[in-house]
Amino acid sequence: MKKAISVERVKGTSDQMGAERAAVRCIQGILQDFLASYGYLEIDTPVLEHTELYLRKGGGGVLSKTYAFTDQGGRRLSLRPEFTASVMRAYIEHGQGLPLPLRWQYCGPVFRYERPQQGRYRQFTQLGLELLGSASPRADAEVVALACRALEAVGLKHYHLVLGHLGTALQLLESLGLSERAKTFLLLAIDQLSSKERKLEEIIRDLEEAIPVRVSEEEAKLGASLHSLEPAEAQLMVYGLLRDSNGFTGGREPEEIVGRLLRKLANRDEKKRVEQALDFVAQLCRIKGEPAKALARAKALVTKANLDLNPLMQLAHIIQLLGEHGLEGANITLDFGLARGLAYYTGMVFEIYHERLAKERQLCGGGRYDGLARALGSARDIPALGFACGLERVKEALEAAGGPTQSNLPVDALVVSRTPRAYAYALRVADFLRGAGKRVEMDTKERSVRANLEYAGRRRIPQVVLVEEGDAPRHRFLVRDMESGEERYASFGTA
Ligand code: HAM
Repeated sequence: MKKAISVERVKGTSDQMGAERAAVRCIQGILQDFLASYGYLEIDTPVLEHTELYLRKGGGGVLSKTYAFTDQGGRRLSLRPEFTASVMRAYIEHGQGLPLPLRWQYCGPVFRYERPQQGRYRQFTQLGLELLGSASPRADAEVVALACRALEAVGLKHYHLVLGHLGTALQLLESLGLSERAKTFLLLAIDQLSSKERKLEEIIRDLEEAIPVRVSEEEAKLGASLHSLEPAEAQLMVYGLLRDSNGFTGGREPEEIVGRLLRKLANRDEKKRVEQALDFVAQLCRIKGEPAKALARAKALVTKANLDLNPLMQLAHIIQLLGEHGLEGANITLDFGLARGLAYYTGMVFEIYHERLAKERQLCGGGRYDGLARALGSARDIPALGFACGLERVKEALEAAGGPTQSNLPVDALVVSRTPRAYAYALRVADFLRGAGKRVEMDTKERSVRANLEYAGRRRIPQVVLVEEGDAPRHRFLVRDMESGEERYASFGTA
């Protein structure tokens, strides 16, 4: 019989099994428990969403990578490329009566049409959180500090935090009264300039296409005389002129010509403003480095452009609060070119990198997105922010750093019963320790004490609890500290 051609897994996806699966689950468990200890409750949302959800504020980079299709019922659906929009949609649908702030955490598969390579997949697992309902810099500091601490909780130490703020650039866009199209263009430009994906000259060339302006000599003259008029007056005047002349109608209806001309002139004005904004943004994007110095440079630029210093003051406040969270020693860089490829961010943004992963592969990313609720149909603004990390990347960083991996993930204690009769009591001791928040392993191989101590040493388990028959009536157990070798009795009241 002819052998059937095998069906392979989809490119950019992976099968996880055995030890590898255990490692990812273990990292997931540690992170989820850690976030829960800060009051973040779980939320789960569907993998399928209406594509519209991502069109509202999904923005350039990620939106273009979304797996979108039409189902049998003719609905435009997408596999979620991230959780944030879904969490906000769920809040608007069911959560509006809940007291704010809300702290939610999630974990699950997300899908992006990427060019697959090491650390970049088409299906990967995001674990993250969203904090809804607080506009205070304290919320920003909590979220950034939690992202750093969460990585420390799984054993990653040498990470690098990059902080930015989109407030200044967005404020400039607002002050120039640009159209949504021009704003989206500029946001994408920030991303491209900061990632050095494109040069300023190339972006200016793109601008010709994004905002087409080809104004003839006659149109330009007419435009100059319209300059000081209100739009309605301008319309009337052009209409009158066209009625009296056959100069450049080209057989088209006067209304059509008036409309087109006014649009062209508006485009020309807008294009000039976008060019000005691009020039400022290009200068801002170049500012990166040690926080105090970068802030001083940004302040000088913003003051010169007559813009509000508030976003910079907020960023300085967040950095000070991060110090209060004990992150003053963390390796922090400011980068005013950080835009993150998602159009919903409005304020502080951040990314975390690890020295053992390639530079462009961040472990975590997040920021503040105060405008998303309204864009998704909320009647009021809901300040919100969050972050997500890619679990596969966290695992890869741990492996690369030689830290705890599948075979030696952090366990706080190993409980050993010295005799079969002590086993039932040893199980109770292990449960008691788990109840006290420790991660506890039981010896299930019935090994000797020596073999168990050797095993604990190899796994870097800091404590071994040795239980024997006489301990049960006295409600005690012996705890051996593996580093010092010291042994002490603990009881259910004192462990
Ligand atoms: P993001 O930076 O697009 O942010 O993704 C978050 C994390 O997912 C990244 O830091 C990275 O670790 C991981 N990741 C992204 N793409 C891939 C890939 N192709 N393969 C493997 N891992 C990947 C967001 O998605 C935002 N929703 C984060 C957020 C939450 N902002 C506010 N709240």
